[in-house]
Amino acid sequence: MNRNFKTLSLAFFALITNIVFALPPCEYKDVITPLHQPDHWAVSLLDVEYKLPADYVPTNLVALTEAGFNDERFVKQELIADLKQMNEDALALGHGIDIQSAYRSYAYQDSVFNYWVDKEGMDNALLTSARAGHSEHQLGTVLDFRSVDGPAPWDLEDWAETPAGKWMSENAWEYGFVMSYPKGKQEESCYSYEPWHYRYIGKEFAAQWKTMNDATGMTLREWLWTQKP
Ligand code: DAL
Ligand code: ZN
Repeated sequence: MNRNFKTLSLAFFALITNIVFALPPCEYKDVITPLHQPDHWAVSLLDVEYKLPADYVPTNLVALTEAGFNDERFVKQELIADLKQMNEDALALGHGIDIQSAYRSYAYQDSVFNYWVDKEGMDNALLTSARAGHSEHQLGTVLDFRSVDGPAPWDLEDWAETPAGKWMSENAWEYGFVMSYPKGKQEESCYSYEPWHYRYIGKEFAAQWKTMNDATGMTLREWLWTQKP
């Protein structure tokens, strides 16, 4: 198919999708996400409205050492092969990646959110941290990255401007990882820019999202809304 025609068709499809399934504004609710069974992990919509049950624990959690990191924290086994490959490719290009944060349980996320409320106040905390149950980290498929030997990514002006962060922003989708909260998209994603926070949805879904993103700028949250029953 002619490339321009394909891009135009996708933009038109996205416009119709947006009209038919109008993306809800960022309203703070506590609704259990419809796709919350363990095998729904790739398409479970989590935002400020939809959440996971408190007792949701991902299946197949394994240590990050399985992907070549010197790190005993956990992620879902399903992403290990792609993470390992991404790690090796980044390293071979001279800008290694490392892990800042991995799987977070409901209880741990509760303590993280409350820490930010105490430190920054509720309004700021809501833009930078998910309430317990609402965090994608509870899926076991989300990693906050930083550069090898680098500081915490949120201590930098923009991690995506560093060699490792830039490479990730351009290439992570090819390994099945999507940046959930991109720059300039707070109204759509409901959180402030997080160039370090990537969610694994698998290569096939990531390629579908990427096609829509190229054509329309669609964020992961918007794409997940189109997958929701
Ligand atoms: N920082 C992201 C929004 C989280 O807490 O999951
Ligand atoms: Zn994160």
